[in-house]
Amino acid sequence: MRGQKGGLNSSSSSRRPSTVLYLVCAAAFFSLLVFAIQTSFFAQSDSSSSSVKLDLNTEQDIRTLSQFQSTVQQCVANRGLGLTADIVDHCNLILKYPQGTNSTWYNAQFKVFEPLQYKFNVCEALLLWEQYRNMTTVLTREYLDVRPKGWEDYAPQRIAQLGTKNCYNKTICEEHLNLILPAKPPFHPRQFRTCAVVGNSGDLLKTEFGKEIDAHDAVIRDNEAPVNEKYAKYVGLKRDFRLVVRGAARNMVAILNGSDDEVLIIKSVTHKDFNAMIKSIPNPVYLFQGIVLRRGAKGTGMKSIELALSMCDIVDMYGFTVDPGYTEWTRYFSTPRKGHNPLQGRAYYQLLECLGVIRIHSPMRSKRKQGWSDIPSREMIGRAHAAALRLKRGQDGDLGQFGSCKVSGNVDPDKIGPVSGSADMSDVRKSSNYSKWEVLPFESLRKEAQDHYNQMEGVSLYKMDGNKLDDLVCVRHSSKSAVY
Ligand SMILES: *[C@@H]1O[C@H](CO)[C@@H](O)[C@H](O)[C@H]1NC(C)=O
Ligand SMILES: *[C@@H]1O[C@H](CO)[C@@H](O)[C@H](O)[C@H]1NC(C)=O
Ligand SMILES: *[C@@H]1O[C@H](CO)[C@@H](O)[C@H](O)[C@H]1NC(C)=O
Ligand SMILES: *[C@@H]1O[C@H](CO)[C@@H](O)[C@H](O)[C@H]1NC(C)=O
Ligand SMILES: *[C@@H]1O[C@H](CO)[C@@H](O)[C@H](O)[C@H]1NC(C)=O
Repeated sequence: MRGQKGGLNSSSSSRRPSTVLYLVCAAAFFSLLVFAIQTSFFAQSDSSSSSVKLDLNTEQDIRTLSQFQSTVQQCVANRGLGLTADIVDHCNLILKYPQGTNSTWYNAQFKVFEPLQYKFNVCEALLLWEQYRNMTTVLTREYLDVRPKGWEDYAPQRIAQLGTKNCYNKTICEEHLNLILPAKPPFHPRQFRTCAVVGNSGDLLKTEFGKEIDAHDAVIRDNEAPVNEKYAKYVGLKRDFRLVVRGAARNMVAILNGSDDEVLIIKSVTHKDFNAMIKSIPNPVYLFQGIVLRRGAKGTGMKSIELALSMCDIVDMYGFTVDPGYTEWTRYFSTPRKGHNPLQGRAYYQLLECLGVIRIHSPMRSKRKQGWSDIPSREMIGRAHAAALRLKRGQDGDLGQFGSCKVSGNVDPDKIGPVSGSADMSDVRKSSNYSKWEVLPFESLRKEAQDHYNQMEGVSLYKMDGNKLDDLVCVRHSSKSAVY
């Protein structure tokens, strides 16, 4: 404002002293006012015993988190292959690469090389990733039904080439989504004990993790990753889930050949080409729910981990480029190409390992003893998570397991939806093994999954919006229904 005034008014210099004086007086008066308010506030809160207790609890939470930070710091030092963690405060820390680390990735957009240090908020990371253990990460009909304007406003966002931003006519959106929309969650929190998330890094050829990967209860792969005898000793043969982007549609038929039970999960949006491809394969296909982009490490890997955490207790990560010294982005089945942010990705994955979210396997880690004792225990993570939650919401803010439900709804127990895809299927899809996942007797679930279901009172949690931790869509299933 000053600059503008000066430019417009040539006599402003002669008037400046009085303006300054006026501003100084105003500032002084304002500070006095603030001081007075603060004093009275503190006088009040000092005399109130409940807020003293509140302060003590807050101090305790900060201490809990500070201890947790030290454990994470030690874990990074032990496992980070040169990475170190500097603690900023009870929530924030900075992961640093050693001096002299080559940052070979040039960001043409911002005209910079990748930085050698990254700041992370451990409290936020804990809240986010612990939440995924309780989430449903597949789009369902019940989600669209319960979410306000789910069909009109949200469903169209998941369909490319719709030609309209809204779905004024639900029938049209339904036609696009029918193929990939189950009535209710086909997979459940805690369904598997161990899962392997297998990336496509060329690093996989430097080790022979095949048997180890296949020993997991479920294996999650990515896009066009070939699985066959040629690569068996490097990547294994077990095939359960495959996360795909729509660009991968045209190669999927050949890649899935013979693997009829492998579940495809589309990462972002479906479209005509994808739907046409689906009609020519027998595999169950679903749409990922919980799309969030740009969170520490970019891209595909994060969604695989989200999907895995929403079904598995232990997530082992293979085939990600996470060792020092990379100069190019490689894939185990094709020639190298330019990639994205390896230093940022590696730092974030290391943080996730030290937060107990994933366990990283790579060539440089394969020789050392695979002990996990320096990773915080589940108990410790639970305490740190509770502390982070209280600090975020305030001491009285523990609203229970449904505290983040922005929208809640029930599914009518008498209207249990049909198993996916039973209507108007192509001939090849008639043998789709949807029921393997969708008609699962409750008793056949792992005990941990049953316990969780009971503890959650039959409520499924879904992400509502991108990055917001607090906005969940919660759908309650009646215990009357015999299948889950
Ligand atoms: C960094 O790259 C340069 C040139 O490619 C190489 O000479 C040097 O040894 C590299 N340093 C490290 C620490 O890898
Ligand atoms: C909605 O679209 C379907 C299929 O195109 C059509 O048959 C139906 O008449 C439409 N309904 C309305 C209310 O426009
Ligand atoms: C699928 O594999 C069989 C042999 O296992 C082969 O005969 C067939 O051509 C393959 N189909 C496609 C579409 O690749
Ligand atoms: C469907 O899945 C079940 C359970 O895993 C399996 O026993 C069955 O062989 C599968 N059916 C087909 C047609 O693939
Ligand atoms: C996740 O579910 C468990 C019950 O299995 C519950 O005790 C816990 O509070 C939930 N955690 C979050 C972050 O929702």
